[in-house]
Amino acid sequence: MSNHDPLDSDCITLTRFVLSEQKKVPQATGELTQLLNSIQTAVKVISSAVRRAGITQLFGIAGQTNVQGEEVKKLDVLANELFINMLKSSYTVALLISEENETVIEVDLERRGKYIVAFDPLDGSSNIDCLVSIGSIFAIMKKEDNSIPTLKDALQPGTKVVAAGYALYGSATMMVLSLGSSVNGFMLDPTIGEFVLTDRDMRIPNRGKIYAINEGYTHQWEPAIKEYVQNKKDPSKGKTYNARYVGSMVADVHRTIKYGGIFIYPATTSSPKGKLRLLYECIPMAHIVQTAGGSASNGKIPILEIQPQAIHERSPIFLGSKEDVEEILEIIKKHEKS
Ligand code: AHM
Ligand code: MG
Repeated sequence: MSNHDPLDSDCITLTRFVLSEQKKVPQATGELTQLLNSIQTAVKVISSAVRRAGITQLFGIAGQTNVQGEEVKKLDVLANELFINMLKSSYTVALLISEENETVIEVDLERRGKYIVAFDPLDGSSNIDCLVSIGSIFAIMKKEDNSIPTLKDALQPGTKVVAAGYALYGSATMMVLSLGSSVNGFMLDPTIGEFVLTDRDMRIPNRGKIYAINEGYTHQWEPAIKEYVQNKKDPSKGKTYNARYVGSMVADVHRTIKYGGIFIYPATTSSPKGKLRLLYECIPMAHIVQTAGGSASNGKIPILEIQPQAIHERSPIFLGSKEDVEEILEIIKKHEKS
């Protein structure tokens, strides 16, 4: 992590970084740069709204009215509208997939571009009202041809993702971006309103000492998951791990990248495919973590190799340090054999 001097006359902003990456690709048109700029704007407004949410009464149920008698938008509704409006007006996207919209969102012909973006505008809804970290997640794919965008264009496997990222509204606001070759982190400097490069070429440790899983569901886990988590608490099975679980995927994944370890959302008896969504939660995070040197699997195959069948489909996920993910996959394999 580099120190950021707010008066640095040569600081690397996110926009500057993306532009210089674009220049490395001779045939690049600048469309991706424009697209990422629109996401950056959405994230800045969401960050500002998150910071002022209590004061401006953005908390609470959609449809409530504020003191002026105006209808108050819930934060996640606002975040969704921001993503959609900013992306549509960037002239770079053909199709959008949002956690908040049941069907794909087609962009009008006049504003249509070549990219497809799947996003969760505000993830971690159960943490909004108690001021625990929340985030936004996105994955960017290309539309393969010039035909009218359809659902089929949205159902691309993670191997087709060209860029992915997340914004974490934590004790500071940070954007982490993977363009496929490296992962870089940018902290929002509120004094200048810019994201500045603070975490260059982020690499996840090969092994960590933290496990993150909602242990309240232990009774609903398959035996392999029970065995793995039990091992991590049993000194006779090796070094014990610390337990950490925020309940906001972005925060849990960000910590996993920084400190190493494993994040798990497995299948449970009540959610046989797990809870997290493939297109805009699992795939972008898997892309980022893999680019940073880690791995992500659904327990059988890498997350990025899954062929999506529906835009809101779910997947179990095991993500994090390479050796930690390998260790649990071995246990799963052992259980399948027996
Ligand atoms: P959400 O889309 O309703 O916010 O749910 C997604 C969140 C993730 O951020 C987090 O990893 C998970 O749900 C936590 O779920 P649980 O409370 O079941 O542990
Ligand atoms: Mg979500």
